[in-house]
Parts: sequence; structure tokens; C-alpha cells
Amino acid sequence: MICGQNSLVLPRIGPSILNADLASLSQECTRLLDLGADYLHLDVMDGAFVPNLTFGHPVVKCLRKSLGPGPEFDMHMMVKEPEKWIESMADAGANIYTFHYEASLDSTQECIRKVRESGMKAGLAIKPQTPVQDILPFISSVDMVLVMTVEPGFGGQTFMKEMMTKVAQLRESFPLLDIEVDGGVGPSTIDYVAEAGANMIVSGTAVVAASDPAQVMLQMKDRVRMSLCCQKE
Ligand code: DX5
Ligand code: ZN
Repeated sequence: MICGQNSLVLPRIGPSILNADLASLSQECTRLLDLGADYLHLDVMDGAFVPNLTFGHPVVKCLRKSLGPGPEFDMHMMVKEPEKWIESMADAGANIYTFHYEASLDSTQECIRKVRESGMKAGLAIKPQTPVQDILPFISSVDMVLVMTVEPGFGGQTFMKEMMTKVAQLRESFPLLDIEVDGGVGPSTIDYVAEAGANMIVSGTAVVAASDPAQVMLQMKDRVRMSLCCQKE
């Protein structure tokens, strides 16, 4: 078998545009897609769940109109009451609605149900302090789990290597689960991420600020593909 070809869990690179030039959001997204991005990771912050503000569904709607139906939008919803924005994000053209377990708590299952009913995929995110055990009851009903490798809120933070225990734990129990990592991921940390078994790689600063973003994305994807292949054999 050629490494990675028959793997059911695919390596995918989703740049985060948080630290990009937001005045040229559409051009920046087009550039990253042309350079090899598999999807776009769009960070929504409400100034309450995290101490920062970004953008909401009106911007996503414009971006969808500008980019057309092709690119996949992974909405990282760093917001309180995540159920509030499901319909508007689906209407705006989002594809994956990734919300935080810590923001939903008692309504997690209900939120997953609503996301899927809206036609989007459901992603469930955990902050660094949240153990994997807390989300085990929901894994069979979600499409993806996001293990945060920094405290959510800002781009350009230092990767928390100790979070890899969570990724490895998840990969061991769920060989076919899409596992995403987000925060401080780049060429210098991709080995840890790949070895732990993550397959959806969010990378902001390391890609956006690189002199050769295409090379950085390709290098990370190849590294992840190699690990997924080894885990399979
Ligand atoms: C942090 C965001 C991340 C961040 C990633 O709260 O969720 O998506 O922008 O950026 P880097 O790769 O620079 O840490
Ligand atoms: Zn994010």
C-alpha cells in the first residue's frame, strides 16, 4: 500500500485566518486555498466565552458569496450559548459547526442534534483544562473533536505539548474519528501532533506568516499522512 492512500482518516490542513489581513479576508482565503489549504478554519469569538472579538455570520455569508460553494468552512465557535448561532451560520454557508463543550455543558447533546439537523457537521471542542473523559458520551454523535493546544482567544500562542496525551487517548479508542488540533501548530510542533494521531491540522501564524505557506502546509500534511499510515499498519 502507498502510505496514506487507503487511510479512512485523511490528513487535512485548515489554516486559521485570525492573524491574516482581515481587511482582505476573501483574497487571503483564496490565496491559502490556491496554495494547498484543504479547508478554512474560521475563528468566531464573542468577547464573553473568550476575551477577544472577531466576526460573526454576516462576514461568513459575504465570504461564502465571494469564494463560491467549494471551500469548506470550519467555524470555531468560541462563544457562550453556541446553540444561538446554529441557524444563522448554516444559512451563511458554514459547513462544520465546532462549538465548545464548556460553553454548552447540559445542552451539548441538544446542540449537536440541532447542528446536524441544520445540515452542518458537528465538531466538539475542548479547552486545555477539560479532560477527554468529559466528552466521551458525545463522540458517537459528532463528526469531529477539536483538542485545543492553547487557551482559546488569541493566535500566536505557544503549543501545549501535554495536550497530546488527549489526542493519543482519543485516537486509540476511535481510529476513524476526525481529530483536530488548534493552537501553536506549525513545522516545529507538527511531529508531536502527527505522532499522537491528529488528522485535521489548524495552523494560523505558522502558515500565514510563512515566506512559503504552500511548502509549510505540504510539509505538515505529509508528516501527518506518514503517521496515519504507520498507525494503520
Ligand atoms: C485560538 C484560535 C486559533 C488560532 C490559531 O483561539 O482558535 O485558531 O488562531 O493560530 P496559531 O496557529 O497562530 O496559534
Ligand atoms: Zn481556532
